[in-house]
Amino acid sequence: SAQPATLFVIFGATGDLAQRMLLPSLYGLQSENLLPDAMRILGSGRTELDDSGFRAFVREALETFIPAAELNETHVTALLARVHYQPADVSNADSMAALCQVITDLRHGDVVYHLSTAPRFFAPITAALGTHNLSGPGTRVMLEKPIGTSLDTAREINDGVAQHFAEDRIYRVDHYLGKEGVQNLLALRFGNALFEPLWNARYIEQVQITIAETVGVEGRGDYYDSSGAIRDMLQNHLLQLLCLTAMEAPSAFEPTAVRNEKIKVLSSLRPITAHDVNVETARGQYTAGELEDQTVPGYDEELGRDSDTETFVAVRAMVDNWRWRGVPFYLRTGKRMPERETKIFIQFKAVPHSIFGSKAISEPNALIIRLQPEERIELELLNKTPGLDRHGIRFAKVSLDFDAQEEFKALRRRPAYERLYLDAIEGNGTLFVRRDETETSWAWVDGILAGWEQAELHPSPYPAGSWGPTSATHLVARNGHEWN
Ligand code: BG6
Repeated sequence: SAQPATLFVIFGATGDLAQRMLLPSLYGLQSENLLPDAMRILGSGRTELDDSGFRAFVREALETFIPAAELNETHVTALLARVHYQPADVSNADSMAALCQVITDLRHGDVVYHLSTAPRFFAPITAALGTHNLSGPGTRVMLEKPIGTSLDTAREINDGVAQHFAEDRIYRVDHYLGKEGVQNLLALRFGNALFEPLWNARYIEQVQITIAETVGVEGRGDYYDSSGAIRDMLQNHLLQLLCLTAMEAPSAFEPTAVRNEKIKVLSSLRPITAHDVNVETARGQYTAGELEDQTVPGYDEELGRDSDTETFVAVRAMVDNWRWRGVPFYLRTGKRMPERETKIFIQFKAVPHSIFGSKAISEPNALIIRLQPEERIELELLNKTPGLDRHGIRFAKVSLDFDAQEEFKALRRRPAYERLYLDAIEGNGTLFVRRDETETSWAWVDGILAGWEQAELHPSPYPAGSWGPTSATHLVARNGHEWN
């Protein structure tokens, strides 16, 4: 069984993700004394650096991306003392051999590799590790997203990695699973008796899962343009949130039980094809607009060329099983939305019969689980409007509102990678994505992509700073719903 890692290797250690998230997360773990005492950290990448050059790079990343108040020189020094660097070029066998020699020298037990590179390097890197006897028991490999761009390409990557690593030692990253609010979704559902009895088609009218971002595509145009919102966000983050919202109670909070339940949800997704893409999906691309008091350029302008890639997608997902029969799960995500907001909105059905007259009860109950930017849970209820009313009881919508920041005062905003790194270091795969999950979600997304192509459904424009194209409004309105 897994032992705590003695060596943590990051491939892509000088990349953007490493600077912003990965190195700061290692610092976070260090600052809470959660890294195994003797664990070394080895960075690797194409950039030519020596140990001290990389230490300077790490220090700079920490100083840039961690709030000054959270930086403590003792912890920085302790982290840097663990750090090494070895440049490597995957296409060069000698260079990979040199890297593997360093790994062999530094490890004295379990190793974790985090492949934070473009996915085309996953198979070659694991092959080199295999060749140098560095992929056997006691080694674990974390794969950064995206795992492919379709079912076929995902399979190819998974097959390549599987030649050297057993599935239970492959940790596919979906960083949403490392977010505090996402884990809290499980706590809320399975730690409280209150919600579970209502958590089904009998009491729930509709579910909406939104990941809205204000950012555009920044400097990642080339990656993003070959991907689009459906591959970049829906195939992974949105479908993972859907799984956690819709799944049955697992027998235990452990890798096999949790992932077995998630896969049942994914397997129950009703396919969407060319016949129904026009009614079941909406596709958009932002044009210039006003956002946060600034005029921002359109996607084509940002990219520097015309493009048919969507920056917004909304889908009505139907989970065809006993629990969810007939309940729409609306999923949507977009760039350049009016605000950054990740939330799950659960609307319950109205009471079966109103004793107060037909007009009195206009707003059914709702539970809103906000994951970002703040973690907050709101339960919307109807309350009597106080006072003496001749016409009987009138209602006002009120909210029971829980704000995690307020409740847990000393709460530090942790990058999701702190949780994921700690789990990988300790050998716990519960919050990672299993092969069948990736492939089942790709199969469903491939259906939509093929449908778009066949039906020639191109992205409709929406101005930056709006909630997406009008087709998204129609998507929910068709079922008598509105976006929350
Ligand atoms: C990444 C996507 O997986 O998630 C990005 O590639 C997106 O396009 C990001 O911006 C959003 O993550 P978060 O943690 O900021 O919600």
